[in-house]
Amino acid sequence: MDESGASASGPPDAATIARWRAELARAARVCVLTGAGMSAESGIPTFRDAMSGLWSRFDPAELASEAGFRANPARVWDWYAERRAGVRRAQPNAGHLALADFAARRPGVLTLVTQNVDDLHQRAGQVDAIWLHGDIGADRWLDRCPRRAPCDPSRAAPGRPPRCADCGNLVRPGVVWFGEMLPDGALDAAERAAAACELMLVVGTSGAVWPAAGLASIARDAGARVLIVNPQASEIDAVAHAVLRGTAAVVLPALLRR
Ligand code: APR
Repeated sequence: MDESGASASGPPDAATIARWRAELARAARVCVLTGAGMSAESGIPTFRDAMSGLWSRFDPAELASEAGFRANPARVWDWYAERRAGVRRAQPNAGHLALADFAARRPGVLTLVTQNVDDLHQRAGQVDAIWLHGDIGADRWLDRCPRRAPCDPSRAAPGRPPRCADCGNLVRPGVVWFGEMLPDGALDAAERAAAACELMLVVGTSGAVWPAAGLASIARDAGARVLIVNPQASEIDAVAHAVLRGTAAVVLPALLRR
């Protein structure tokens, strides 16, 4: 529902963009939550799209869980290697750049929370971000290294996956898999930012994966205005004051420009 009580969920017209642009310009604290749709126009497939083609015969839990990795480390490593290569080839899109520019222009105003494991926000110049689901470019050990000075996974012996030459520990990607805890402190920081913001902007997420999906409700319950940018319906549309049916690379530059 928008402020007039009517639902605003069509393609964004100039007046709606102008109204929300003014709200964003006025807000002293803005929290932005991004999901896979944020990077779609950079050519990075969403998790579901990434499971197409060769990989479509696997269940997500086989490719993105600790049990799946232990059962078939080479298969899971190869799947992530393909996704990592895609991220390295991709470039930030106009939406990433608009967010980074807004953050630089208005220091201390924007807190960016992302569910994405790519580094496109960072490469667009976004200095701080809360990464809820980890970093696909990072390596870490599958099991805790028992040494007092832990071995460095980047020095593991090459392989699919690389393994520790001393103890055989396997290297795994630094992402959060199904059933795993979010990185220490990340959820707390995100919930604090959602509760403290005046305006929450949610971009390119289906709102189906918790606890990230709950951040918009936290913001709304605390009195914030909530705006969603997504070309399709999401599971949290009802939480928003307005939904702009457009893509990140088109709508964000219009919303966030000077
Ligand atoms: N601009 C904005 N939104 C878009 C665009 C675009 N160009 N293209 C697609 N979308 C929207 C889709 O309509 C959909 O709502 O992006 C959303 C992508 O949904 P998901 O693939 O479910 O991504 P996300 O919500 O980020 O998933 C959350 O689930 O797969 C796990 O850990 C993974 O972080 C991920 C989490």
